[in-house]
Amino acid sequence: MIQVAVMGHGVVGGGVTEILLKHAEQIAKKLGEEVYIKKVLDLRDFPDSPIADRFTKDFNDIISDDEIDIVVEVMGGLKPAYDFVKQSLSAGKSVVTSNKELVAAKGAELLAIAEEKNVNFLFEASVGGAIPIIRPLHQCLAANEIEKINGILNGTTNFILNKMINDNMAFEEALALAQEKGYAERNPAADIEGHDACRKICILAALVYGTHVYPENVHTEGITKVTLKDVEYAQAWGGAVKLIASARKNGDKQEIIVAPMFVSSDCQLSNVDGVYNELLVRGDSSGTIGFYGRGAGKLPTASAVVADVMDCVLHKDKRRNIIWKDGDGSNVLPYETYVNAMYVLANGDDSSAAFAKANEIFGECERIAMNGAEDGELAFVTPELSFADFTAKCGEFAKSADVKSTMRVAKI
Ligand code: HSE
Repeated sequence: MIQVAVMGHGVVGGGVTEILLKHAEQIAKKLGEEVYIKKVLDLRDFPDSPIADRFTKDFNDIISDDEIDIVVEVMGGLKPAYDFVKQSLSAGKSVVTSNKELVAAKGAELLAIAEEKNVNFLFEASVGGAIPIIRPLHQCLAANEIEKINGILNGTTNFILNKMINDNMAFEEALALAQEKGYAERNPAADIEGHDACRKICILAALVYGTHVYPENVHTEGITKVTLKDVEYAQAWGGAVKLIASARKNGDKQEIIVAPMFVSSDCQLSNVDGVYNELLVRGDSSGTIGFYGRGAGKLPTASAVVADVMDCVLHKDKRRNIIWKDGDGSNVLPYETYVNAMYVLANGDDSSAAFAKANEIFGECERIAMNGAEDGELAFVTPELSFADFTAKCGEFAKSADVKSTMRVAKI
């Protein structure tokens, strides 16, 4: 029998115990031994839980219990999760986590401890909820050089954008609904400001390119400035606004960014609905592969956590060789150098004259016509240019028109 502790009995933690109990027999059959939940750590009381007698409020009950081989961390946040995980690994216990904040901030250090102690530190659930992505990148696509990863990695923002577009729902109402469904982070600013998606792309980039990527080194924009008008213009242009997380190889460095972008309807990411996530990964030998599924929520995320627990059982004393070195940010190219076409929404006294000026400044632009556009309103897409170049040219254009909004066109 393998004994595990689950730290955190929130949305995901509740799902983990539910699956471990519900599928105990099937899991034992697959592993050849039973997985027994010895302790659940939470400061709250859960008297109605079928394992209420195994709850504890004291981490010492876990760390000092030599019979516990695997610790599941589903508390979220850094404090006290980082300390508890570090102590668990140092004590020779394998750790499974869904905590992307932890992996993005401390992954290199925790993986090094796991390596030293010959235990596993697994985090499949930290990116894409139920979608298998860490294991495929680490194992199935290991023979490839990964050229780029583009994805929708935050279910909450995708859910909100969809509700705004399809149901004309106000931003706040859609966010409240995402919270009610258990998709949103404890502090939803992490979702809507893009930090959650950023942490996830940092983890994938570190895994694929071998050097830790700290979120502070990645240019990150959320969806709070996206207006209904931008969304309508994206549709008129032939696509949708999506919060895109992207990592691409450029020489021996990477371009990594999170931002709302226009995604053409030719690209399947434009059709990702609701809380679903999708990643498109391009390997030099494999070509492009899509990974799609539920990116958030209790059981989808817990399913990935429990699979990692099972992997720990199967790889007891023979660790999964997931490792990357620490980084100082020098592997991430400055975002001002990334090249994209840009959407611009502006107002001028004479929109035709303003468009002529735009063509003069940016080169030949594509004007977006939309029914119901206001007088003087002008929306267009520029040719591809670096962000630094765009900023300078947009400053020049702003002398002829009032620039209301700008957004990158995704290069998937
Ligand atoms: N808040 C996250 C999301 C949860 O909406 O995708 C899953 O990481």
